[in-house]
Amino acid sequence: MSLEKVDKKRLPKHIACVMDGNGRWAKQRNLKRTDGHAAGEEALMDVIEGALDMGVEWLTLYAFSTENWRRPVDEVRFLMQFNESILVRRRDELNDMGVRIRFIGRRDRRVPKRLLKQMDESTALTAGNRRLTLTIAFNYGAQAEIVDAVKQIVEKNVSASSVTADMISKHLYDPEMPEVDLWIRTSGEYRISNYLIWQSAYAELIFLETFWPDMRRTHLFDAVVEFQGRNRRFGGLSS
Ligand code: IPE
Ligand code: IPE
Ligand code: MG
Repeated sequence: MSLEKVDKKRLPKHIACVMDGNGRWAKQRNLKRTDGHAAGEEALMDVIEGALDMGVEWLTLYAFSTENWRRPVDEVRFLMQFNESILVRRRDELNDMGVRIRFIGRRDRRVPKRLLKQMDESTALTAGNRRLTLTIAFNYGAQAEIVDAVKQIVEKNVSASSVTADMISKHLYDPEMPEVDLWIRTSGEYRISNYLIWQSAYAELIFLETFWPDMRRTHLFDAVVEFQGRNRRFGGLSS
């Protein structure tokens, strides 16, 4: 098992994943795209358990983007219901595992009220947990997040000269979220797709060919091992 190869003393503090490839996974099997989303639940739970196995503190998963509203209404409706259903069915289990559930994204009128309610209840239920902070990016777009942060800052009549990167960070959806160390996208697409752009300024990027429904904790362990072999310089020189 690749877990043994992971150096527990040099873990990424924050891993972010773009859960991509559900539709293509389904197409390969002559299934509906929505069957691919449904199959992604097993991957989701396994990856969360993998993060817990290693002792990673922050895991952020991209579930629905601000651009995903462009999809057919039936698929959008399915995704809203499916996300609600996962929360209702899985939150007690996640709570027992010590997972703190949070959400980032725009709470606009298009997100069904009942889903927002389940999101709030899941956050409240798990607020005391500290083992792993699982953030679900839902109706999330990094550009929207930065726009929303700038709006808040402007509303405070802050003088231009006092604007800093730290100030912008503190106005993002979750000011407590640490910078992303390891950024992973499945499905063989080499794009950022508007995901955590600010927080990933110095993230190590890993692109996997695996479609999300086939993603398992071993892929996550392998990605962490690869991450640990990288030389992070942050603009400076190697130590
Ligand atoms: C990711 O899988 C899930 C969401 C974007 C909600 P896709 O639905 O994008 O699957 P592909 O990329 O079409 O295969
Ligand atoms: C990114 O995947 C969004 C999520 C995984 C939720 P997409 O499938 O929407 O991204 P593009 O359209 O291929 O860039
Ligand atoms: Mg996709």
